[in-house]
Amino acid sequence: MKRRTPVYINILVVLGLLLVVFYMFAQTSEFFKTKYFWAATIVSIIVVFIQSAIGDLIENEKFKKLTEEEKNQYLAETKVPYFKHLWASASKKQTAKEEEDILIDHGFDGIMELDNQLPKWWLGLFYFGIAYCVLYIVSFSFTDFADPDVEYNQEHKAQIAAVEKYLETVPQATLETAVFTEDHVEEGKAIFETNCVACHMDAGKGGIGPNLTDNFWINQPEKTLYKSIFHVVYNGSPHNPTMQAWGQNGVLTGNDIEKVSAYVYHINQEQAPITQAQGGAAPQGTEANWEK
Ligand code: HEC
Repeated sequence: MKRRTPVYINILVVLGLLLVVFYMFAQTSEFFKTKYFWAATIVSIIVVFIQSAIGDLIENEKFKKLTEEEKNQYLAETKVPYFKHLWASASKKQTAKEEEDILIDHGFDGIMELDNQLPKWWLGLFYFGIAYCVLYIVSFSFTDFADPDVEYNQEHKAQIAAVEKYLETVPQATLETAVFTEDHVEEGKAIFETNCVACHMDAGKGGIGPNLTDNFWINQPEKTLYKSIFHVVYNGSPHNPTMQAWGQNGVLTGNDIEKVSAYVYHINQEQAPITQAQGGAAPQGTEANWEK
């Protein structure tokens, strides 16, 4: 009579499989908190116990039919610890008689083939694989499970949210803290081209808005040029609402204005002015005398 696997090992195996399946589908350990996982666990454990109880009944019936000698041998075997028994049976050599019984009549050069049974653990994995495959294909085809587009969109949303959250907390430049650096010119140019060219035209040569490359300024709210630009862009022009208050109305952040101001400073101070002859707008305002 074959020795049965103890019920606690079956329970451990079933729990292991449940963990694998739930983790594969949930992709996080959050499933521990769901009632589905705990319901599945309880039901599985009950099923294992029922299966074990049926096994006990069958074992009793078989036991009754054994001869006295076989009964004693079986009882002696059950006293050996389960893992020791496993090890012994795994490393046990078949006797010549046993081999003869399962010999297949088909060999070559004296190499013969035996009709061995497949190991139970192997068969178990095989059937688990089939069941898992069906479950996977069905979920993949009919739910959002493992759908790369859905996963991408979720990740994308999370990233955007994280960036927005970061931007809310990141310190923004103010009139007091903003400083000119060359590093901001490139990014500032991109901001200028998106928000400002419509009025100040290419390279700030002027159109609806004044020429930003010459030294004539309508607004000179600060003593230095860079701060003055920042001031006007942040707060708008007090004389002309066409130049809106980009910072106050929240269209641009303090950091964006710090950058776009660097670009305006750059085209004004580090490049030659675009004159009327070159297509620039006529000077407006008064000539400025900026502090360095
Ligand atoms: C809708 C048109 C328009 C847009 C868009 C615009 N401006 Fe202006 N801007 C003006 C006008 C008009 C003035 C002149 C205001 C005045 O008369 O006081 C001006 C003035 C300015 C001044 C001060 C110039 C001076 O001589 O006093 C700066 C600096 C400036 N703009 C930068 C920018 C930047 C940077 C952007 C993009 C973020 C921008 N502007 C977008 C129309 C615009």
